[in-house]
Amino acid sequence: MPPTLLETLATPAIVVDLDVLERNIARMAGRAREAGVRLRPHAKTHKCPEIARLQRAAGAWGLSVAKVGEAEVFADAGFDDLFVAYPVVGEDKGRRLLALADRARLAVGTDSMEGARTLARPFRDAGRSLDVLLKVDVGYGRVGVPPERAAEIARRIAGVPGLRLRGVFTHAGHGYLAEARAAVEEVARLEGQRLTAAASDLRAAGLPVEEVSVGSTPTAPAAMRVSGVTECRPGNYVFHDASQVALGTCGIEDCSLTVVATVVSVPAADRAVVDAGSKTLSSDPLRPRPGGYGQVMGRSSRIEKLSEEHGVIAVAEGESFRVGERLRILPNHACVVANLHDCLVGVSGDRVEAILEVAARGKVR
Ligand SMILES: Cc1ncc(COP(=O)(O)O)c(C=O)c1O
Repeated sequence: MPPTLLETLATPAIVVDLDVLERNIARMAGRAREAGVRLRPHAKTHKCPEIARLQRAAGAWGLSVAKVGEAEVFADAGFDDLFVAYPVVGEDKGRRLLALADRARLAVGTDSMEGARTLARPFRDAGRSLDVLLKVDVGYGRVGVPPERAAEIARRIAGVPGLRLRGVFTHAGHGYLAEARAAVEEVARLEGQRLTAAASDLRAAGLPVEEVSVGSTPTAPAAMRVSGVTECRPGNYVFHDASQVALGTCGIEDCSLTVVATVVSVPAADRAVVDAGSKTLSSDPLRPRPGGYGQVMGRSSRIEKLSEEHGVIAVAEGESFRVGERLRILPNHACVVANLHDCLVGVSGDRVEAILEVAARGKVR
């Protein structure tokens, strides 16, 4: 019998099931169509032009990215509508954005006058303007202005020469801490309602609001249906991961990305060690509650401890592992895993169909 895919790959390897990936892409695109919003997927999840092309073919309307460097990679790959969904600060970044603006319809996030001014200067000096979306904090407590101050801050930003206010956006990252599906839905509803309320305040103040943009994978289905939302930016949904399964966003059969690892040591009956440590799986915790660093597919054992190149499995009652055995591991957070690897192995069943370059990997500037 010829060796199976699992037996032939050099490990650790990141494998993406292309059938599941395409199903995930189609499902979210269908939801956005039904809700009547534009889908602008966050490409920081995969950082792969090939996957972004599949999203575009399914109806995505441009891409979101987190970094100017990611925007540059996707512009090079022919994507011409990019939103840097991050409060970008610095005149150096402003100059790079100005160069990008020749090749793409561009927007960036901001949540301060100080930051917005640094981006405006190069555009003002060139007689151009940069589209900005004001980041509103709907409860995550990371970046963004409080909804009740959005109109006042937006008015000041809109008055800066070199900038054009396109709208408002938010990310309800606190949905990842909601312990029950009903709590996630509530976060999603408030995400949409607080952002649309802020958009109404801006309009009442005479400011233009073309875009009202929400989005995270757990909250997307409900948040995009709130009346007044125009755009949704989920990212993780292409892969899903153990955290999405624990949150009830999807089933394990909807997870397209797994790590193939080799058991390199079985030092005790209750412990087995694989060649995938934090440099492969990342040390991101499981959401919403901690629970190890990866689920062994088809078993109940989990990776309990990590060092850089070792993943230590706590062997569950009744299970056993042998040295040399290959395992598939479902990571806690797929976006970080993709960023740790040069390429993803695209498979269909037991066949390797494509090697996907993680072209925007490590573009943190
Ligand atoms: C600003 C912003 N928008 C959208 C997303 C996509 O969210 P998710 O990864 O849950 O799909 C993120 C994720 O971190 C984000 O920070």
